[in-house]
Amino acid sequence: MDYKNLAQTYKTPLYVYDFDYIQTRYLTLKNAFNARKSLICYAVKANSNLSVLKHLANLGAGFDCVSIGEVKRALLAGANKYQIIFSGVGKRDDELKDALESDILMINLESEAEMKRLEIIAKDLGKKARISIRINPDVDAKTHPYISTGLNENKFGVDINTGKKMYIYAKNSEYLDPVGVHFHIGSQITELSPIIEAAGILAEFVRELKAIEIDIKFFDVGGGIGVIYDNEKEIDTYDYAQGILSKLNGLDVTVVCEPGRFIVANAGVLLTSVLYEKFNKQKRFVMVDAAMNDLIRPSLYEAFHGVELVGKSKDESSCDIVGPICESGDFLAKNVMLPACESGDIIVVKSVGAYGFAMSGNYNTRGRAAEVAVSGGEHRLIRKRESFEDVVALELEFMK
Ligand code: LLP
Repeated sequence: MDYKNLAQTYKTPLYVYDFDYIQTRYLTLKNAFNARKSLICYAVKANSNLSVLKHLANLGAGFDCVSIGEVKRALLAGANKYQIIFSGVGKRDDELKDALESDILMINLESEAEMKRLEIIAKDLGKKARISIRINPDVDAKTHPYISTGLNENKFGVDINTGKKMYIYAKNSEYLDPVGVHFHIGSQITELSPIIEAAGILAEFVRELKAIEIDIKFFDVGGGIGVIYDNEKEIDTYDYAQGILSKLNGLDVTVVCEPGRFIVANAGVLLTSVLYEKFNKQKRFVMVDAAMNDLIRPSLYEAFHGVELVGKSKDESSCDIVGPICESGDFLAKNVMLPACESGDIIVVKSVGAYGFAMSGNYNTRGRAAEVAVSGGEHRLIRKRESFEDVVALELEFMK
């Protein structure tokens, strides 16, 4: 990819996504489940750009949404409403109402209280709500504590006993239709066994439910497949699918999975321009025009993202790549080897297609970056750079 040309054309900081890679990743996962009915519901939160969603909708993907905003994005991008799931650990009444009115595939519940709210709202609307329940299988996903969700100590889902009570309640309700089970034990998972263990626990649970005539049709295994940022080993999609399917003997269910990172992380890079270099007694700093408001993963999780200086490779020495924000935590990479940089050089920050732009903000009154799609050698803008006027737009009229 001609990063220099892209940076010149669209300016920096700039997110660039390889749409062909996104397609390959989606199809790889979809094909791994060939033997069974399956639905890949892309986790919108990872990268919610409308053009990314449209690209995936065109390929036949469904969508996993965690706010009514994400549901609306998916619909706007042309998603099939019967392939949209609405999850999320706390949903507002108006979100539940809008989701019911949108007639999406199912609403994924996370607590008894939420189920009772949904029942009342469905009754008011004269509708029967298709639901699944997020079961917390108490399995350790062995990932970063901030993105591990399947342990009893986490706020997500309900334990299996509570889940069973909820399914029985839902079955007897005129306004609830329990059609799915769901688990999601964490993100950036690089070991297959916790996912298979959770699938086994849930499959057994589905058998119990079927025995009491609760007919579960969707078996949702969540997202979480890890990707390579540095030297991780990626879970093989065939092993992943086979491992899950091996637990489903005798069960006539559609397997649903909700990958976010797997599909988009390594499709994206962030291009940033070098402003200048700075040395103090201890360190070399390369100041760039992207900052933690553009990519918060290094600051928030101490996440590693590979970096590369475009067009130069000689005389590397160690440095920190830092942004212009007034916080010591504002860095994109620490102790990395880079050649001597000059103002205007372009640095590529890798593997940022997931939870990159999606988690960006306006801290320090910095407009958010532009986004570009590349496919078949062609590039096009898919989100304009935010201007100063965009950033202050919602405040301006209230200034006295
Ligand atoms: N399904 C549910 C219910 C989820 O909570 C998540 C992610 C996914 C699917 C998609 O997970 P993935 O396939 O992308 O791992 N901001 C963090 C990641 C947070 C993940 C939250 N939930 C990061 O930058 O690493």
